Amino acid sequence: MNLNLKVWRQNSPDEKGQMVDYQLEGISEHMSFLEMMDVLNQKLINSGERPVAFDHDCREGICGSCSMFINGEAHGPVKGTTTCQLHMRSFKDGDTIFIEPFRANAFPVIKDLVIDRSAFDRIQHSGGYISVNTSGNTQDANATPIPKENADLAMDAATCIGCGACVATCKNSSAMLFVGAKISQYALLPQGQVEAKDRAQNMVAQMDAEGFGNCTNTGACEVECPKGISLSNIARMNREFLDGSITK
Ligand code: SF4
Ligand code: FES
Repeated sequence: MNLNLKVWRQNSPDEKGQMVDYQLEGISEHMSFLEMMDVLNQKLINSGERPVAFDHDCREGICGSCSMFINGEAHGPVKGTTTCQLHMRSFKDGDTIFIEPFRANAFPVIKDLVIDRSAFDRIQHSGGYISVNTSGNTQDANATPIPKENADLAMDAATCIGCGACVATCKNSSAMLFVGAKISQYALLPQGQVEAKDRAQNMVAQMDAEGFGNCTNTGACEVECPKGISLSNIARMNREFLDGSITK
């Protein structure tokens, strides 16, 4: 198929960016979206131009680095799919495709489609961990019974890949779906109780310090999240925050 691409090009964080038009011919419907971007970059390199900078690592929906806004949607038009799992069969011959970085003040553009998501790392560092006894007398994990429903909900929350689509989609640039998931994966398990009184307090404080907005319950984050993280995790985060503030 032949495609018209409109791609955000920006040399550095301090320079203004702009959409630039590119034409691609002979793209297979079986290519992934990132393979299509590879073809574009090879074409640019062959003609002596700077290739488009974009983040990617696993290319199988695990690492969360392939953050692109495609035709106005985080990770493109297919629900429950990261950019790297998106295939060109989701587009038609002759289509015009707009490709932009995830946009939020807390995610400044570094170059072209690459953004700085280290704000998420700092939120994780502030409370997204558990204390583990490494003395050699560690209790076997299976000695702590966990209700199946809690184990399943914790696992669901832990599938968050930290991609930032929720932030990019939210009109408030709220990170609450991400933070709610990271808190929930511990709040539901006995191993997460040691730091439970401080975890939500510290992670929410860091989230605010990074400049993310508040949640106003529009639910757009849940719709665009490639891992189907539920809004109920935000409700759990709020309960954990409240519990930490009144029972310390
Ligand atoms: S909650 Fe969903 S959209 Fe947000 S960072 Fe996690 S996986 Fe990405
Ligand atoms: S490249 Fe890892 S999730 Fe897309």
